[in-house]
Amino acid sequence: MKYLPVVFLSFFCSIATAQNIEMTTAKFITGDNVIYSYPSTDDLPWQEVKVPSQWEMQGHDGYDGYAWYRFHVIIPESLKNNSLWKDSLRIFLGKIDDVYAVYFNAIKIGQLGSFPEDKGGYKTAWSEEKEYHIASNSPFIKWKGENIISVRVYDGGGGGGMYNGQPFINMLDLIDGIKISAQPAANKATNAQQVSFKNSFARNISGRCTISCFDEEDQEVLSRTETKVTLKQNESKVFYPAVPKGKDHITYTYTFIESNTNKTVSLKSTPPYILTPAPAATPKINGASIFGVRPNSPVLYKIAATGKKPLQYSVENLPEGLTVNPANGVITGKLSRKGDYKMTVVVKNSLNEAKRDFTISCGDVLALTPPMGWNSWNCWGLSVSDERLKSSAKALMDKGLADHGWSYMNIDDGWEAAARNAAGEIVTNEKFPDMKKLGDWLHGNGIKFGIYSSPGTKTCGGYLGSYQHELQDATTYANWGIDYLKYDWCSYDDIHDAKDTSLASYKKPYEVMQDALQKQNRDIVYSLCQYGMKNVWEWGADVNGNCWRTTGDIRDSWESLSSIGFSQTKQYPFAKPGRWNDPDMMIVGQVGWGDHLHQTGLTPDEQYTHVSLWCMLSAPLLIGCDLSKLDDFTLNLLTNDEVIAIDQDPLGKQAKLVFKNETFQMWLKELEDGTKALAIFNTSEKSDVMRLRWSEYGLGTKQKVRDLWRQKDIGSFDTMFASTVASHGVTLIKISSY
Ligand code: GAL
Repeated sequence: MKYLPVVFLSFFCSIATAQNIEMTTAKFITGDNVIYSYPSTDDLPWQEVKVPSQWEMQGHDGYDGYAWYRFHVIIPESLKNNSLWKDSLRIFLGKIDDVYAVYFNAIKIGQLGSFPEDKGGYKTAWSEEKEYHIASNSPFIKWKGENIISVRVYDGGGGGGMYNGQPFINMLDLIDGIKISAQPAANKATNAQQVSFKNSFARNISGRCTISCFDEEDQEVLSRTETKVTLKQNESKVFYPAVPKGKDHITYTYTFIESNTNKTVSLKSTPPYILTPAPAATPKINGASIFGVRPNSPVLYKIAATGKKPLQYSVENLPEGLTVNPANGVITGKLSRKGDYKMTVVVKNSLNEAKRDFTISCGDVLALTPPMGWNSWNCWGLSVSDERLKSSAKALMDKGLADHGWSYMNIDDGWEAAARNAAGEIVTNEKFPDMKKLGDWLHGNGIKFGIYSSPGTKTCGGYLGSYQHELQDATTYANWGIDYLKYDWCSYDDIHDAKDTSLASYKKPYEVMQDALQKQNRDIVYSLCQYGMKNVWEWGADVNGNCWRTTGDIRDSWESLSSIGFSQTKQYPFAKPGRWNDPDMMIVGQVGWGDHLHQTGLTPDEQYTHVSLWCMLSAPLLIGCDLSKLDDFTLNLLTNDEVIAIDQDPLGKQAKLVFKNETFQMWLKELEDGTKALAIFNTSEKSDVMRLRWSEYGLGTKQKVRDLWRQKDIGSFDTMFASTVASHGVTLIKISSY
């Protein structure tokens, strides 16, 4: 079994490094003062921090606001002398959360984003990066001497500071003028790629463009072309290499070789490739096999099933008090007595009939399997609206996601009006004209409805929070038909006494809202969001949280995905039915945290890793993209029932890290039926073969293996198993002893 190896460099990363001065540590101070940019300022007493690494990780947990970094850099003349083109010095700082200005020996040389006091107010630029060029004959540069690069940062919420990309200084070379970018070509039929080599410098650059195509299945080069070019300023050379027929696992390497220096710049990219087979035309029942409700709360559960439409739904042994809609499979009603109600779900179409056992567990615990649905934050950010939510909800139904168990539509921050009404009730802003109506519409289609608030006076986005209005807000949510609440610490920092390090003081705001939710006559899944403070996984269940964020916010990059996803080891014992560790929402498809969306920065292999890892972790699965723009690859990625079943397994155990070296990580997850899921992740930059001996992991010597992404048995393996795993990719298998 083989997967595509991939080393993906984003557009910005196609940088050929000559001689670099890396800036790995900086002096750091919180607060704001213009003198921090002056070379004469004494920063000796300041803290020394590592870069890149958010300041939350370096002793400033929860700190939002201003801070400064200072780098002391000696720039040797050899840097200039050894460079062929002695034109400019380049400064690269990576990504900085949220807004920053950069000063070179007290001269401001650039800014990204907009500070609160700027015209137009605060605007984050956390996901952007930029490099700065200074003419090498500039009088501001002290060749041979010490230069001070100061960076003024403003963090508007969540993580703060320099967090992505290793800052460095070097001399610009001709090769640096060439940027390579690749994307799928507009004509989908040929499955071609569009690759562009562009010169951004004000002089001609000559060289050779090479394109090589590598078959990852057979590990062989399929083709290599080379074209001589001379590019004027802003001129591009564009190619359209087509994916060879019958080959889906390929990697392209695009390289530019600059003729004066023979220096090169490369970009590797993998066209999206589909692994999940299309659902059969015969009926198949998907989704969780157990669902929790509280006595006397309204039940809303849509049977997830695929097959040729129309499907007809029924339930054998449906308990009294419940009914099922035969046309859409939505079960509604109420149960008054606690207990496990066992039933059989039946789905028919013109071709066949499918049956599956199903349990409704009426008791105190909700979310008996991890919640699955959608959340607005990673795509729309604060610009979410009723219309946008509805268009994604429609896509959830029309594109068939609901048939695979995706069931929540959750509004994140940005729905609240600026002030409460005269009665002190929270009200919506103009983007949400009628929450009750929206909830009714979702429920009518069997979709559940989620909302967001903060225990502070303000949310992280600066909207109204629930402080001292908790019961009133919970009641409002219940009246709107809310089924899920994400409760985000944010400005509760201002209420919480920083000197009070007691666990009780961290639990308190979550207890207050929990009491308020308990008083409602409907079930509201409770999602704690406080970024893992005080090891929330150890006590989230005590405040009746159903899931709890374990880290800061995720971004659509490999660094973010891998640092969050692969760090979820100590949380392992705390996952169980109704209690889930939450490594944050998914970053597939079109994301953007605002009005302008972009395709996720993750490669196809990284996305397979993302979904596999989240399922292995029994994580809540909340899609964070614009579903109305869902492409075939992303839809396929999110509708593999065998992969989803790993997440939704009713045993509710999280996978355990069982092996780790510089190339591989293996995670093993126990499943209810006695089988196990094994994920082999390749975290390195090259595809590689993992060989394992079952006995090393306490497994029986004979194992049957099923490839879950391809939904295919791949054989019985005595003693050993081996798999080629793509760079940043995964092999996800189910193993059972025989
Ligand atoms: C952050 C939270 C995000 C999002 C955002 C809204 O603190 O971690 O997931 O909810 O606030 O402002």
